[in-house]
Amino acid sequence: MIVLGIETSCDETAAAIVAATPQGPRIMSNQLRAQFVEHAPFGGVVPEIAARAHLDHLDTVIDRALAEANITLAEIDGVAAATGPGLIGGLIVGAMMAKGIAWGAGKPFIAVNHLEGHALTARLTDDAVDFPYLLLLVSGGHCQLLVCAGIGLYKRLGTTLDDAAGEAFDKTAKLIGLGYPGGPAIEQASNKGDACRFVLPRPLKGRPGCDFSFSGLKTAVRQLIADGGLDSGDTADLAAAVQLAICDALIDRTTNAVDWFRCHHPDGTALVAAGGVAANEQLRRRLAAVAEGAGLRFVVPPPSLCTDNAAMIAWVGIERLLLGLVDDLDAAPHPRWPLDADAPRQRRAEIIKGCK
Ligand code: KG4
Ligand code: ZN
Repeated sequence: MIVLGIETSCDETAAAIVAATPQGPRIMSNQLRAQFVEHAPFGGVVPEIAARAHLDHLDTVIDRALAEANITLAEIDGVAAATGPGLIGGLIVGAMMAKGIAWGAGKPFIAVNHLEGHALTARLTDDAVDFPYLLLLVSGGHCQLLVCAGIGLYKRLGTTLDDAAGEAFDKTAKLIGLGYPGGPAIEQASNKGDACRFVLPRPLKGRPGCDFSFSGLKTAVRQLIADGGLDSGDTADLAAAVQLAICDALIDRTTNAVDWFRCHHPDGTALVAAGGVAANEQLRRRLAAVAEGAGLRFVVPPPSLCTDNAAMIAWVGIERLLLGLVDDLDAAPHPRWPLDADAPRQRRAEIIKGCK
């Protein structure tokens, strides 16, 4: 089975061809055009610019994916596109392109939840990952701990009460004067820094539960800079302190989730990390230690498949197509589309009070 995947939910225009073979999954091509150049002057993604860039480049990126895989549209079995959550302009561009191709080529269309793409990538890169597994999903827009019990079966254990982990990296990087995207910039600057020179808060650390909060960290960095006395010689130390604080918070909350998971899912197979922040080396190292301590396998995709890509969308297309889960051509994009639709909406004040 071969599926074309299309990803346009944020600032990456991507197309990939993935095959399910008797030997396991195979990425035949994985093409991506990032929009760093377009958004860097603004220090963040500008939705209108992102949508127009997808419109300009998506056809070329798909052509490149088909050429690299050396196949024609006639040879694919389905077309999958990320139809949410994300920026509506980009979602419409990707969904309409996928629907047009599916209609023209007479192939099934699969509307994919971008978060499910991140959630199932571990099964693409490591075909021994069985359900149920515990997932730390950390990206620019999401920061959640979930039990993945099957395709479409997700239970949220915790989420962020304010900023996502990637957002915390991006916003503090902007304050420190590092480039966009902030995560890789902070990680690189951290290499030469002393993480202990600045003391930053770790919101919710040591409290019960699996929720996250990062807005206090951002405020602390802003305050530190406003107090003055810092110069470019302090950048590496501050970046290292931010990275350590974010990783400490993620590890603390994940440890609580691992305890819960071991107790409620003794058949659980692995701790999986996914999303752009899972590309972070310190986080990967420390999560591996948490998993090992709990007797779980630790599975994390290579960094290039942690950040947004279309191979993960094509892979969800395959997993769904194999179960006969296809969508009509009138399927609408959803800017908001939680993986666990039953999870209660988090109310920051209540949760913080409940933790006391
Ligand atoms: O999954 P992703 O590519 O897009 C979303 O779905 O949001 O994640 C992007 C986020 C950005 O906030 C970026 O700063 C962060 O992932 N990121 C990293 C690293 N690489 C990307 N954060 C920390 N360390 C990294 N190496
Ligand atoms: Zn993503």
